[in-house]
Amino acid sequence: MVAILASGNGSNAQAVVEFFRARGKDPGFVFFSNKKDAGIWQRADALGVPIRFIPDPDDAAAMSALLEGARLVVLAGYLKKVPAEVTRRFFVVNLHPSLLPKFGGKGMYGLYVHRAVLAAGEKVTGITVHRVNDEYDEGPILFQAQIPVPDGATPESLAAAVQQLEHQYFPAWIWELYYRPTQP
Ligand code: GAR
Repeated sequence: MVAILASGNGSNAQAVVEFFRARGKDPGFVFFSNKKDAGIWQRADALGVPIRFIPDPDDAAAMSALLEGARLVVLAGYLKKVPAEVTRRFFVVNLHPSLLPKFGGKGMYGLYVHRAVLAAGEKVTGITVHRVNDEYDEGPILFQAQIPVPDGATPESLAAAVQQLEHQYFPAWIWELYYRPTQP
């Protein structure tokens, strides 16, 4: 089973499922969300993917029990910290909309990231997939892809460009992680 955790819209979760299905594979996706009003619920419904509510994201034992049987745990716009017990027990990866280690850490998500990138005058930005450890956005980096920051970019335009990059690369990276013989 591949567990995909999301707190928001769920477009990356959907892209991952569609990527696998387009190649005739379905390892058994289950979505999980800590937000009952998040867009991921409608996407799960439309895709026919089971989705489960995370009542208490800080309850390590309950989280472990919920994720039982997951060979890979994917954070796709999941904004809560994952308890250390869970990151030690499962192979957990996170998608982040910047080139870590820049612009990561608590509170760095969505437009906050892109605003910070522009405020710092960065010439490039991008996405990072990393293994999750005990600290926000600090686990070993597995993949990165980058794009130039165009002149006149706004946080919103940058968010759209970065999201496009995510949809282009993230599903293939999850595929690679899942089918790579040595891990997880
Ligand atoms: C993605 O851009 C992802 O990189 C970001 O949330 C968005 C979720 O979009 N994650 C973080 O900021 C984590 N710190 P989605 O719900 O449409 O897939």
